Amino acid sequence: MISLEWRDGVFRFLDQTKLPHQEVYVETDDYRIVGEAIRKLEIRGAPAIGVAAAFGLVLAAHAKHIESVRALNEEFYAAMNFLSQTRPTAVNLFLALERMRRTLDQNARADLSNLRRILLAEAKAIQQEDIDACMRIGEFGSSLITLPSSILTHCNTGALATAGTGTAQSVITTAAKQGNVVRVFADETRPLFQGARLTAWELMKAGIDVTLITDGTAGLLMQKREVDLVIVGADRIAANGDTANKIGTYVLAVLARQHGVPFYVAAPTTTIDVNTRSGKNIPIEERSPRDVTHIGDMRIAAPGVSVFAPAFDVTPNDFITAIVTEVGVLRPPFLEAIAALKKGEPNSPPKDQIPSRQRVL
Ligand code: MRU
Repeated sequence: MISLEWRDGVFRFLDQTKLPHQEVYVETDDYRIVGEAIRKLEIRGAPAIGVAAAFGLVLAAHAKHIESVRALNEEFYAAMNFLSQTRPTAVNLFLALERMRRTLDQNARADLSNLRRILLAEAKAIQQEDIDACMRIGEFGSSLITLPSSILTHCNTGALATAGTGTAQSVITTAAKQGNVVRVFADETRPLFQGARLTAWELMKAGIDVTLITDGTAGLLMQKREVDLVIVGADRIAANGDTANKIGTYVLAVLARQHGVPFYVAAPTTTIDVNTRSGKNIPIEERSPRDVTHIGDMRIAAPGVSVFAPAFDVTPNDFITAIVTEVGVLRPPFLEAIAALKKGEPNSPPKDQIPSRQRVL
């Protein structure tokens, strides 16, 4: 499924808020629509947000009223400012915006039509790199799942959340093709139900045995030894491996530790932010109380109740068994592993660290 696409001068995206009941594609030539879509989670998932933002800048550069390179620059920076304020946690957004800005700078002498062409090519490159990364993450991650396993996942990390086949979900679908997925437990993922609405739907379409659970059910399943491994995505991984992901991820990591279940994070290297030293420095988005007081249009909480609605939490690095990227599987200590990766020396999974708890069913 292609959820983000550049087609004949317009950007086309699947509105994820309408899934799974309606598959509605939006076509736009206005970067503000793209920014609003990111803010409202019509486009969501860290890598998808980055790709969409890059195309948002392409739309700004292609605006019909622009007749000079100078006007293009003005529109570009206005769009960059707008897009950068949509969601604060997923670093892929800022990385993509910065990469597009660098491309603009490096081609300052190009004429208007060439500049437009170059910016479009860069956005397409960002998209293609994510497609390739998803594939490789699936390959590296599935090498960790050597026996038929029951897997628990949180939020949505599939094709909808990326330009390709997903991150954690790419690992799951690749392992399933190898016959190593018995079933997937998908957390519903309160408050916006990415697990119930998106992950369960995607996995069912892929023909994978998926069981939807409320977020609070994970503990019971682990107690009953029904979960062989947990795998989740990431919105930002700090230089020391601390990982921000959908609210509720940290709870899973603590449960996994308590029950001796391997806890994996899968993310492209674009999600690793070496400029953020630790999880304490990751900005956590707080969302509207309405996300919690309502389900869709229906109010479920008493009017006036106080609400705390962080969209993400941070899992400290020592709860993470391994981080699967498109260039290899990182093992603790993550500070060193990430530093080596950024220097171009990724470490791959030593055979002796393949999880021993996996059951043969
Ligand atoms: O608020 P969302 O739905 O954008 O949050 C998404 C997540 O937390 C995902 O797990 C993460 O972005 C990884 S997506 C491949």
